[in-house]
Amino acid sequence: MAVERTFLMVKPSGTERGLTGEVIRRVEQRGLKIKGLKQVKVSKKLAQDHYDEHRARPFFGELIAGLTRSPVVGIVVEGESAVAVVRSMLGTTNPVDSAPGTIRGDFATELAENIAHGSDSVKSAKREIALWFDKTELAK
Ligand code: RTP
Ligand code: MG
Repeated sequence: MAVERTFLMVKPSGTERGLTGEVIRRVEQRGLKIKGLKQVKVSKKLAQDHYDEHRARPFFGELIAGLTRSPVVGIVVEGESAVAVVRSMLGTTNPVDSAPGTIRGDFATELAENIAHGSDSVKSAKREIALWFDKTELAK
């Protein structure tokens, strides 16, 4: 067990529906701390770098179009086992399978419109936080 930081992002499918506050409310209600928060108009390059692991996948074009179509809200979340806790709060990748009570299970039914992103490991979290935030934008 360890205190970790993770990168949580309300994607266009969440911001367009006004779900940013709902996502933040759940994070704070769980007892996790917000160490960075900003709205970003995402460039194609930033979207491609964020989803670098999926570059060769057939859905990559659709993924990048989906992430760049509206501003997103990036959040650095800190707490005990924050990477796993945020992933469990999101629910499974495909919202059809996501349990009620999870963000995707409560607000989504479509794979490409699954509301929010969470880093999948501590290593990914470090890479993504460095990609989206300057150190000066983060709280101690
Ligand atoms: P995310 O990175 O956004 O938190 O999602 P995830 O870890 O749960 O899922 P990941 O495998 O990283 O996939 C990234 C996003 O790509 C879309 N996707 N489409 N058409 C497909 O087969 C497919 N598979 C994944 C989803 O929108 C997913 O969130
Ligand atoms: Mg992922």
